[in-house]
Amino acid sequence: MQPNQQLSLDQIDLNDMGFWELPRDVREGAFLTLRQHDPIRYYPEPIMEDSPIELPAGNGYYAITRHADVAEISRHPELFCSSKGATSVLDLPEEMVEYFAGMINTDNPRHARLRRIVSNAFNPRMIRSIEDSIGELADEVIDDICERGLVDVTVDLAAPLPLKIICDLMGVPASAYGEVFRCSNIILSMGDPEYVTGDVHPIIAFITAGAELTALMEDIAAHKMDNPGDDLTSALIHANIDGEALTHGELASFFILLVTAGNETTRNAITHGILAQSLYPEQKALWQADLEGLTPTAVDEIVRWASPVIWMRRTATTTTTIGDHEFQEGDKVLLYYASANRDEAVFEDPFSFSLARDPNPHLGFGAAGPHFCLGAHLARREVGVMLQALHRRLPDLVATGEPDYLRSNFVNGIKHLTAEFTPTPRR
Ligand code: HEM
Repeated sequence: MQPNQQLSLDQIDLNDMGFWELPRDVREGAFLTLRQHDPIRYYPEPIMEDSPIELPAGNGYYAITRHADVAEISRHPELFCSSKGATSVLDLPEEMVEYFAGMINTDNPRHARLRRIVSNAFNPRMIRSIEDSIGELADEVIDDICERGLVDVTVDLAAPLPLKIICDLMGVPASAYGEVFRCSNIILSMGDPEYVTGDVHPIIAFITAGAELTALMEDIAAHKMDNPGDDLTSALIHANIDGEALTHGELASFFILLVTAGNETTRNAITHGILAQSLYPEQKALWQADLEGLTPTAVDEIVRWASPVIWMRRTATTTTTIGDHEFQEGDKVLLYYASANRDEAVFEDPFSFSLARDPNPHLGFGAAGPHFCLGAHLARREVGVMLQALHRRLPDLVATGEPDYLRSNFVNGIKHLTAEFTPTPRR
């Protein structure tokens, strides 16, 4: 895809939802223009219409669009913190920041404690056992649709695998998968009318979905207190060898984070991976010719190409200079990973989809720093195993419809994508 620079710098309004609905080449062109002419560009605070809760007035934010600047800011949590909110441009009330998304919205020493407890519980033995199950789960997903010849890639192929993995991990029963799926769609949808219906304000829908997930987790935690199992929930609520455990409130926040951070992102990487291989069949053929050999670079190229998380926020803690810009305490910055991942200063031919790309220092999982994606290893595995299984079992799978994109400036989501293949028997 070649970027289309039809918008001038002054026409690029990242606060306008209309901008996020523009064709992809125009959007890529706009970020190219920002990187070239104003890589740390100021935008006023976005306006939330008819907000049902009182939001503090904000002073706007800076869009950081070059790879080097995103990396530099991520490396310095003491200069650019997360605890004022990492996933919302608007300053949300403090209880909400903490409740929604837990550790991603914290700084040291709190972040180090939470990350230590979770990393201890997420130990190599547990990760190995999940990884061993990914192949079987991927085959089950394909068994469910392989005789049909026609699928909605997102709903039938990409969504079920990460959902089952996160739910299994946390001990969520299969009967609640639908509820978890619905709530995570609402939390990340930014009010997309397919997920937030009727007259409900997106903020109310968001709070209600969070409360539903919390209630579900509280039930599971209460059961696991008396009946501990091999799952992550049991490991998190029972004190580890250092006597550390999560409180029930922290567990609920962590669950919301996992369900949103680990589910939608992986789902979108898989859907974008199938779409990109349909648009660039010569790349698909290369992968099919060397399925094992090309998988490691192919997966990272798909994450770079998809950039499922468009940005994360940080807030300056003091006066500090990045590039030639001096930030003041309280200034908000949005780290545009999606733009950093097309930066021509770092990537050769950044607008081409090249499954053998190596090196590939993309920032799809965030840049090096304390918040680097906790699930990157698991996500790479899920995307690689699922796409390999599709190459083996449905080799002529190809997207035949236009992608129906999520209306969001935060998640690069595809809600639906029709694809066809030659029907084949179940295993
Ligand atoms: C392709 C899939 C994925 C992508 C693109 C992705 C992307 C990201 C990004 C951009 C961040 C923020 C990094 C930063 O602020 O520096 C993040 C954080 C996080 N991710 Fe992922 N993620 C993916 C899959 C997963 C999975 C499968 C899990 C869990 C099983 C997960 C759990 C987390 C957690 C817990 C954090 C917060 C870490 C912290 O604050 O210390 N992610 N991810």
